[in-house]
Order: sequence, then C-alpha cells, then structure tokens
Amino acid sequence: MSDKKVALVTGITGQDGSYLAEFLLAKGYDVHGVIRRSSSFNTERIDHLYRDPHERDVRLFLHFGDLVDGTGMREILSRVRPHEVYNLGAQSHVRVSFDQPVYTVQTDALGTINLLEAIRDVDKNIRFYQASSSEMYGKVVETPQTEKTPFYPRSPYACAKVYSYWQVLNYREAYDMHASNGILFNHESPRRGETFVTRKITRAAGRIKEGLQKKLFLGNIEAKRDWGFAGDYIEAMWLMLQQPKGDDYVVATGETHSVREFLDEVFGHLGLNWKDHVEIDPRYFRPTEVDLLLGDPAKAKRVLNWTPKVTFKALAKMMTEADWTLAKNERILREHGHK
Ligand code: NAP
Ligand code: GDD
Repeated sequence: MSDKKVALVTGITGQDGSYLAEFLLAKGYDVHGVIRRSSSFNTERIDHLYRDPHERDVRLFLHFGDLVDGTGMREILSRVRPHEVYNLGAQSHVRVSFDQPVYTVQTDALGTINLLEAIRDVDKNIRFYQASSSEMYGKVVETPQTEKTPFYPRSPYACAKVYSYWQVLNYREAYDMHASNGILFNHESPRRGETFVTRKITRAAGRIKEGLQKKLFLGNIEAKRDWGFAGDYIEAMWLMLQQPKGDDYVVATGETHSVREFLDEVFGHLGLNWKDHVEIDPRYFRPTEVDLLLGDPAKAKRVLNWTPKVTFKALAKMMTEADWTLAKNERILREHGHK
C-alpha cells in the first residue's frame, strides 16, 4: 500500500484553502478539495496549482459537494479515504450572517456535524481540523483571549462556530477522535475576499492611487483586530494534525490594531491621506459589533513550535503592493479601451 498522505479540504476555493492546498502539495500530499457548483468560475485562487510550470505530476483532485449535503459529503469521504480532513468551508462573512442567519447555521454549524458524522461512520482514525474563530470571543470577557477564555458570540456566524467548536470537542471525547479546533484570529493576504475590511481598503487605495475611484465607504473604523498573514496560519492547521492527540489552539500574533491604523499604513504607503477619501456609511455597521480581539498564541508556540512571521506593517505593505499592481493593470486595460 502507498504511504502517500491524502488530505481532504473543504473550502479549498477560499483564501485559506488555496494556501493550504499549496502547502500540502509541496509536502507531497494528494490533495482533494470540495468545490461548489457555480454558474461562474470559483476556482480562481487554485487554478495556478493545475498549471505547474515544471510539469510535475500535480496531485490535486476536485469534487463537487456542499457541506449542507451530508449524504454527498459522506460519499466523497468514502471515495477519497483521506488521512486528514480540513474543514475550512463556511459562509465566512460576519455581516452577511445577519442577513442569512439560517443558511449560515446550516453551513457553519450543521455542515460540521455532517462531516464529523461521516468520519465517525467511514473511519474514526481520520484526523480532523475545524476552522474555529476568534469571533467566538465576541464581546470579550478577558484580554488577551486564550484557549480558556469563555465565549460570548455576537453574530449568527459566531454562534454557528461555537456550536461546531463544542461538537469537535465532544467527538474527541466521546469517540476518541483526533479532532482539533484552530481558534484563528483574523488573517489576511492578497487573496482575501474583497468584502473583508483589509482587502476592501487595499483594493480601494490602489484604485484611488491610479485615478480609478475617489471614495471608499466604510463602517466602524475603531474596531480592533489581531491581524496576521494567512500563509503563516495554515501551517499551524497542519501542525495540529501532526500531534499525537487532537486539541484546541489559539492562533494569533499577540498584537491588536484598529481599522483606522490599517488605513494609515495602506494610504501612507501610497503617499495618500485616507481622510481625503474615506466616508463612514452606516450600512456597514453591524447590529452587534466585536470591538476588540487580541489573541495569546503561547500554547501554539509552546506545543506546535509555531510563530507568525509576517508583521502587521509587512502584511499591510504586501496587500497594498499587490492591489496597486492590480489597479495599474486595470488602468492600462481601460486606456486601451477594454472594460
Ligand atoms: P473564504 O475565503 O470565505 O472561503 C470560504 C470557503 O468555503 C470557500 O471555498 C467557499 O466556496 C466555501 N463554502 C462556503 N459555503 C460552503 C458550503 N455550504 N459548502 C462547502 N463549501 C462552502 O474564507 P477563509 O478566509 O478562507 O476562511 C476559511 C475558514 O476559516 C472559514 O471557515 C472561516 O469561517 C474560518 N476563519 C477565517 C478566519 C480569517 O480571518 N480568514 C479566521 C477564523 C476562522 P466558494 O468559493 O464556492 O464560495
Ligand atoms: N467587512 C467590513 N466592511 N468590515 C468593516 C467595514 C467594511 O466596510 N468597515 C469597518 N469594518 C469593521 C467591521 O465592523 C469589523 O469590526 C472589522 O472591520 C473587521 O471586519 P471583517 O474584515 O469583515 O472581519 P471580521 O473580523 O468581521 O471577520 C473575519 O475574521 C473572523 C476572525 O475573527 C472573518 O474572516 C471571519 O470569517 C473570521 O472568523
């Protein structure tokens, strides 16, 4: 029998899924990803993994599925027979979860139990990673937040993630499964979805610099987050599944910054003053807000030997540069009469 490791990743078309797929392929894994059928292409973040310039045998396989469809997920699991499952699939936007609470719960809460049940049925030895979230701390009861800090969720998204967190812990204890929660604080990258605040800012700043737009409409810019780089965080996910037993870990930088500070970094890098361009639009306020997140990654450092490499300033610069390049290309295309 081959000793090749096989991983199944839900949410492979998302920010984290794409970095994780790259990371696992580089480690020699066969990587299987679950993708949703869509009327337009949704594999942009992983397309480059099919186009290996060295024409090596890229072991990436995609399967149509949806976390809401438990029968389908079980069928994929039986066919793929992975050693490790990374559950990154989710309706991951906090603001949207107020507009679509039921769908968010179906995906982010019931989707997790669909997968846990499928694993229990197919092979209890499959190792399981759950994308838990610092949003679970919500209206924080202590700072910094650790693995022992009680949760106080403030959105349908956070409530669904709390449900999944406890199910993972419960399956670990009830069925002796290797199941882990990565309680990840916000992590960003040039591949971040464009409606999350960091990417919304870097995208707009690049376009403003290139004369393609004038204004940027934002909500609460006093909110503070512990922001890291997605490329660093996916390594912590993998490390969790290499431990002898499943456990729960906070993954964070240990620094917090406001949206306002992120604006300073990004616009400052481009020689612009954000106050000339930003307008506060109440449409982007949330019914309940999470004011401050700050994680203590001491356990991840001690047990996993994991440390974040990219600083807040370096992250802002990386994203600003990438989006400035996008904006320059957009301007050139426009000048040549393309849309
Ligand atoms: P993302 O970019 O929004 O990606 C979400 C992924 O989930 C996409 O591949 C999406 O597919 C897929 N998906 C959505 N609904 C699904 C469903 N019903 N069935 C199967 N797949 C579904 O999110 P991300 O930033 O990479 O985050 C990855 C995970 O970590 C999420 O669970 C998120 O909640 C969690 N998390 C993120 C952060 C962060 O700061 N990024 C922090 C803590 C936890 P489509 O491409 O088809 O939409
Ligand atoms: N999205 C967005 N858009 N957020 C804004 C805006 C805006 O125009 N203006 C201000 N904000 C504020 C939000 O109110 C929030 O306080 C903060 O910026 C960060 O918002 P997001 O970038 O949308 O991220 P999030 O913290 O709500 O959620 C992200 O991180 C979680 C981990 O803590 C998501 O990736 C979640 O999936 C993840 O679990």
